[in-house]
Amino acid sequence: MPEPLALGVLLSGSGTNLQALIDAIGAGALDARIAVVVSNVAEAGGLERARRCGLPAVVLRHGDAPSREAYDARLVETLHAHGVGLVVLAGFMRLVTTVLLEAFPTRVVNVHPALLPAFPGLHAERRALAHGARITGVTVHFVDEKTDHGPILAQVAVPILPGDTEETLHARIQRQEHRLYPFAIQLIAAGRVRVDGRRVIVRNATFAADAALASPALPIT
Ligand code: GAR
Repeated sequence: MPEPLALGVLLSGSGTNLQALIDAIGAGALDARIAVVVSNVAEAGGLERARRCGLPAVVLRHGDAPSREAYDARLVETLHAHGVGLVVLAGFMRLVTTVLLEAFPTRVVNVHPALLPAFPGLHAERRALAHGARITGVTVHFVDEKTDHGPILAQVAVPILPGDTEETLHARIQRQEHRLYPFAIQLIAAGRVRVDGRRVIVRNATFAADAALASPALPIT
């Protein structure tokens, strides 16, 4: 039996995506183990979740490092010390540098609450609503030096409903994040993913050629 993929989960917030990964591993849907959880925020709820599950939880305060590069060097040291094979950003609200990316080439992934390249950066749900978009969604992508920019591995579309607030939309988007992120990481764990420039090739994937999400919904014919 090959060793399960060792994940290093980086987060700044409540860690519901971390929880989804923990649950997927527990359910046998994700062949991985969480080797370490790291946060730049000492009070992050995700650290508490990690501790409750007996996972190593490390605080690396960004204020303690003299530069972004110096911070990432400390991150790399911690991730290597825990034998991490894939770095998973799960609400890690910091730009990473080449120091991390060169230590883990095409081995850093992120989840973003929009259909990239639309609405990168902070407050993606708020900006999708303000723009009047009808459909938004979730993107899982490999990380490069630019914010929410690297090659896209998987996406799911989510309709924006009349009366949606940032909170209701965020809740619906998160439900899809919690499905998509473990699934996308399992594709990597199973060795089915190859990055070719901006394109990501997934072996033996299923594609729904005739599926479409319309908003408002199209009449059923
Ligand atoms: C998630 O919705 C994730 O998509 C977002 O932070 C949230 C973290 O939630 N990430 C970004 O906006 C990255 N640009 P969580 O702490 O409950 O997992």
